[in-house]
Amino acid sequence: MPSQVNFRAALITGATSGLGRAIAMELGRRGTFIHALGRRAELLDELVAELPSGGAPYAVDVTDSAALRGAIHRADQGHGDATGPLDLVIANAGIAENGIESADDADAASQVLAVNAIAASATIEYAKDLMLPRGQGHLCAISSLAGTRGLPGAPAYCASKAALSTYVEALRFRLHGSGVTITDVQPGFIKTAMTDKNDFPMPFLMELDVAARRTVNALCKAKPPATLRYPRRLAWPLRLAAKTAPGWAWQRALGSKR
Ligand SMILES: NC(=O)c1ccc[n+]([C@@H]2O[C@H](COP(=O)([O-])OP(=O)(O)OC[C@H]3O[C@@H](n4cnc5c(N)ncnc54)[C@H](OP(=O)(O)O)[C@@H]3O)[C@@H](O)[C@H]2O)c1
Repeated sequence: MPSQVNFRAALITGATSGLGRAIAMELGRRGTFIHALGRRAELLDELVAELPSGGAPYAVDVTDSAALRGAIHRADQGHGDATGPLDLVIANAGIAENGIESADDADAASQVLAVNAIAASATIEYAKDLMLPRGQGHLCAISSLAGTRGLPGAPAYCASKAALSTYVEALRFRLHGSGVTITDVQPGFIKTAMTDKNDFPMPFLMELDVAARRTVNALCKAKPPATLRYPRRLAWPLRLAAKTAPGWAWQRALGSKR
């Protein structure tokens, strides 16, 4: 079996900017046809024009579950003769409290949870239902190291990513032996529009192309990892501290009123 596989057709949510766009380009360079989904139609058209192995745009809000399901089903039917059904689906679309207009904190929390947890799990489920009868396909959720434990500044974001990671871990039991596999990608800080707005220190901030390559390299392995955390020099100390620090010590170490 080759050590690297090339996907024929992938669907990526949140492909208009940041990590989703960079992953789309990296997969495209490796021969994958990209079904690109996001709300900003003009950015989707620009991306599709640039994709090295072709692509199709889907101007869809992931919180519209009927539109999301419809787009995934249309993408799975292929695009002309060039592509087959989806063999990779990446639930990447995400927002954080700092990037949205909201009436109050409760409204912000519900918007963040709706996109990052509810719509992301729906993306995975709709794709899973198409892949299971075929007995093959790979699913991927972009969660975050921010889901490791509660951090200051973005409670809904942390909760949404923890929910998504737990969802993926639990779903993996159901997929066991089916031929369909799933990877939870937990990045640290990456330079994107999302982090441009942050006004606090971001240790080991990564370049976008490095993060995209790291993600695609892992997904293209003949046996993709169940969980991918990067950068390691942030992931391991954070996970060790999160697992061992009692609540009071965690609060005191990160203490902030943000
Ligand atoms: N940047 C980081 O440091 C970092 C770290 C860990 C994890 N992540 C995760 O990586 C993913 C990508 O984030 P990013 O940093 O690349 O941010 P970004 O540049 O702001 O990209 C977010 C993407 O999500 C899409 N999106 C947001 N709401 C949507 C909706 N309702 N329907 C459809 N698409 C929607 C946006 O497209 P439209 O606006 O066109 O809809 C955009 O393409 C997110 O899940 C994020 O949580 C990022």
